[in-house]
Amino acid sequence: MKSNEARLSREQAKELLLRLDSTLGEARGRAARESAVKLLNSSVPSYSWVGAYVVEGKDLVLDAWAGPAATEHVRIPIGKGVCGFAAKSGKTEIVSDVGKDPRYLQCFLSTRSEIVVPISSQGTVVGEIDIDGDQLDAFSSLDREFLEAVARKLSTLWA
Ligand code: SME
Repeated sequence: MKSNEARLSREQAKELLLRLDSTLGEARGRAARESAVKLLNSSVPSYSWVGAYVVEGKDLVLDAWAGPAATEHVRIPIGKGVCGFAAKSGKTEIVSDVGKDPRYLQCFLSTRSEIVVPISSQGTVVGEIDIDGDQLDAFSSLDREFLEAVARKLSTLWA
């Protein structure tokens, strides 16, 4: 992503949450996650790569993604990487500079920052949204708030 690519605004976050409802329609499960990652990647220029992982036993398994290239990290043990850390803690992780975070597992050379938002159902992490940004510090508390709302929505459509 180029340094001038736009980040999420509060107005856009509101609009996207409404659009998510209409885009998802009757979709459930993987189809819902596919639609959501596509909408996020195509609507917010700073969301360079967007993936949804699901918990399968002791691993996170890549379920749906949208972006310029596939990742080799299609299965991540819970506890490993930023993704695995967030799945273990159940808390959103914002990494403003992936080069300074020893937990970071590299997917793309262009990635400079990352946000990982767990998706929980009845207090248990069932999956997560993982977004890579090509700018340093691409994610703010607004992205966190917005993506946590998206995660709650996806949790209601999990199966
Ligand atoms: N960077 C992640 C791995 C997944 S890729 O970004 C798609 C991590 O550190 O867990």
